[in-house]
Amino acid sequence: MPEHNHIIVAMFASGAGSNAEAIIEYSRRKDSVYKVEVILTNKEQAGIYSVANRLNIPIVHITDPQDASNILEMLQKKQVQVIALAGYMRLLPAEVVRAFDGRIINIHPSLLPDYGGQGMYGNNVHMAVFNDKKPYTGITIHLVDEQYDSGKMLCQSRISIIDCNSVENISEKVRKVEHEVYPLMLNQLCKTIYAQQ
Ligand code: GAR
Repeated sequence: MPEHNHIIVAMFASGAGSNAEAIIEYSRRKDSVYKVEVILTNKEQAGIYSVANRLNIPIVHITDPQDASNILEMLQKKQVQVIALAGYMRLLPAEVVRAFDGRIINIHPSLLPDYGGQGMYGNNVHMAVFNDKKPYTGITIHLVDEQYDSGKMLCQSRISIIDCNSVENISEKVRKVEHEVYPLMLNQLCKTIYAQQ
């Protein structure tokens, strides 16, 4: 592992990119111990492109999300030490998960194990919560293993949605909490890894 005064992070993101933006903004603060060197995406038209361009972070398109050696090669080229998933809707190949064991973090927009598993992502989650008329929802930040949403949990935040009357309201409220908590948890993980270097 290379020795820098920060931990090198790659983000995998294929959505609007709002969490990637929050994480990159945080990385520019004094108390951040990580630096985002690259964003990988498997979507051509994702909002993540405008975030990457605006914040001046290189973005790479993954043509085959199953091609572990191509992904590993890109990560090695940038000397990546930690992977942060934010709205990346594909399972990472097992070889990548094994190579970064304990160093891949993900955010999920519900209180796992509720509303988790294959097909449960983004607005699908909020829609299910809304249809179930839940008074609360939440977020989960967890390490990534070879299955959907099943790695070791790092933290959860519960969010009251009594005042939300649409899926969009829920999504907006959840995203706001995600943007506050995710950079802090990533920074915490990177501090632990930094201390082990
Ligand atoms: C976030 O709400 C994140 O929790 C969710 O996708 C959204 C991405 O938004 N992730 C999942 O559902 C993973 N299963 P963003 O592109 O604006 O960061």
